[in-house]
Amino acid sequence: MARSFAKPMTLPSLVILGDLLGSAWCAMEKRTQVTPLSIPPSEHWDGNDGPWSTFRMQVGTPSQNVRLLPATGQSSMWVVLPEGCTGKNIDNCGYNRGLEFSMNSSSTWADVGIYQLALEQELFLGYSGNGHYGFDTVTMGWQGDSLPTLYRQVVTGIATTEFFLGSIGIEPRSINFTTFNDPQPSVMQSLRNESKIPSSSWGYTAGAYNNIPKAFGSLTLGGYDASRFVANDVTFNFSGDTGRDFLVGIQHITSTSDVNGPITALSSNNSGIFAYIDSLVPHIWLPIDVCQAFERSFGLNSSSYFPLRRVNNATQYTLGRAFLQNAYIIADYDRSNFSVSQAVFPGVGAPGNIVAILPPAEPSSVDHGLKSGAIVGIVVAILVIIISVAIVTFMVHRRRQKQRKASRLAARLEEERFQKAELDGTDAGQEYGRKAHTELDAQENTRHELEVPNKAAEVHGHGNKPAREQLVYEMAAEDVLLPELESAAMTKGAQ
Ligand SMILES: *[C@@H]1O[C@H](CO)[C@@H](O)[C@H](O)[C@H]1NC(C)=O
Ligand SMILES: *[C@@H]1O[C@H](CO)[C@@H](O)[C@H](O)[C@H]1NC(C)=O
Ligand SMILES: *[C@@H]1O[C@H](CO)[C@@H](O)[C@H](O)[C@H]1NC(C)=O
Ligand SMILES: *[C@@H]1O[C@H](CO)[C@@H](O)[C@H](O)[C@H]1NC(C)=O
Ligand SMILES: *[C@@H]1O[C@H](CO)[C@@H](O)[C@H](O)[C@H]1NC(C)=O
Ligand SMILES: *[C@@H]1O[C@H](CO)[C@@H](O)[C@H](O)[C@H]1NC(C)=O
Ligand SMILES: *[C@@H]1O[C@H](CO)[C@@H](O)[C@H](O)[C@H]1NC(C)=O
Ligand SMILES: *[C@@H]1O[C@H](CO)[C@@H](O)[C@H](O)[C@H]1NC(C)=O
Repeated sequence: MARSFAKPMTLPSLVILGDLLGSAWCAMEKRTQVTPLSIPPSEHWDGNDGPWSTFRMQVGTPSQNVRLLPATGQSSMWVVLPEGCTGKNIDNCGYNRGLEFSMNSSSTWADVGIYQLALEQELFLGYSGNGHYGFDTVTMGWQGDSLPTLYRQVVTGIATTEFFLGSIGIEPRSINFTTFNDPQPSVMQSLRNESKIPSSSWGYTAGAYNNIPKAFGSLTLGGYDASRFVANDVTFNFSGDTGRDFLVGIQHITSTSDVNGPITALSSNNSGIFAYIDSLVPHIWLPIDVCQAFERSFGLNSSSYFPLRRVNNATQYTLGRAFLQNAYIIADYDRSNFSVSQAVFPGVGAPGNIVAILPPAEPSSVDHGLKSGAIVGIVVAILVIIISVAIVTFMVHRRRQKQRKASRLAARLEEERFQKAELDGTDAGQEYGRKAHTELDAQENTRHELEVPNKAAEVHGHGNKPAREQLVYEMAAEDVLLPELESAAMTKGAQ
């Protein structure tokens, strides 16, 4: 039953053309003793919608190990609570969701309460959910990794299945609860403030299951791993729209697939699109004609899986985690810029090449302001991002395996899905066991997706710029809210 997923057969490529930073001033930087932190991968492949390379972290006292995915737009750490498995028919749930965190077995847990998750771009894609917030001790890596511990960090317990795995928020912005006047430091801020990392920059690539040998993800805080990408000359400024830092202009998408011949979508006579890079979501969301071009090029059909979704609206253009399997992103919050490079996969055990990013030498030049409208759609250089189509065959294989196990579950989730659509108008996240159909297949799914923009517009309408401040809604008391967090589990149990 050997499958062809062992060999990358055909290679589509995304060609991203972006604005180039014109000026090339070069600050002389002094050496410092503080070195970047390399967060070790868990060496597991986790998730219900793909084999994702997770990272090791510990939370609580005594510390509990968890396996998490980096979240580029989040500031706090998300961990799956036992409630995330209660009443949910998910095989080996606690383990498969990256290990549960039990707040009541941590002596250092300080409860804050239940708030909406601080989602932004994800709202446009139909995601939503609550988190049970509190403060607790977090440690980078697992026992034996000898990485720093931080006290009293914001920890977000999740029960929702919209996000199957927990995440490490690597966005340095502070966290604002509406009930407090003082912003709480993010993990990145705390690391930097305690001189555990040289700057609040980071480098990340998601890793590639389909590479031979499989390549785990790489996460470096305070710098990047130069052995994991091919450097290029393109620098993107942060978009100036707070919370949507990583906006890139996509001018051109080509494929060299030999299934049905090469394709070109978003050709140069087209004005191009702006897409947001977001590691919290798995899929790549692109215009319908691009999706159709991919379908033709790869001969995709309704039983194929491809981590690609059709947008209804320009706000939905997103390059999710699937994109970061073959791309390396570096974010520098001192200079408000980032880069996107072709990822490479040195063999197992190859030494990394960790490079620190230091803050600009002159602290006096205050230049952190927002640069509204700074995006210029001028084509200056080209990045070629190759996505191995092997993921398609892998996923088809995986899905078949899963189908057997999940046949009972599928029927159940089907019910939930429709019920859910009524409740909040989205089916994002309700994908366990039936996912493959929903991707490129038009009809049944478009219905639900159409509801997404309406919902997003509502949230968007509250004022899009300082979205985070708005998102942390006041949800007054725990007695009201706790049932809400649990209600997902209860509904499921009642089915
Ligand atoms: C990016 O930011 C730098 C420094 O703030 C500025 O000099 C440059 O013009 C910006 N580039 C673009 C394309 O907006
Ligand atoms: C801890 O939490 C779990 C589930 O969240 C619950 O089943 C258990 O009873 C709690 N234990 C204590 C001591 O409160
Ligand atoms: C929280 O508020 C502070 C100012 O009080 C602001 O600098 C920060 O960006 C806010 N955080 C978020 C995530 O909006
Ligand atoms: C950083 O550390 C200093 C003391 O060293 C403290 O006063 C300050 O509040 C800290 N800032 C943050 C954001 O944690
Ligand atoms: C781009 O140009 C080609 C021919 O040059 C044309 O067939 C195609 O329709 C154009 N696309 C758009 C979006 O204008
Ligand atoms: C759909 O594609 C898969 C592989 O991509 C293939 O195995 C299957 O036979 C195709 N189905 C039809 C109806 O063409
Ligand atoms: C940010 O800009 C500086 C020059 O201002 C450049 O040296 C650096 O490479 C850029 N960083 C990224 C991640 O693109
Ligand atoms: C997105 O769609 C919603 C409703 O479908 C609409 O109100 C909104 O204006 C759209 N936004 C953009 C940028 O097209």
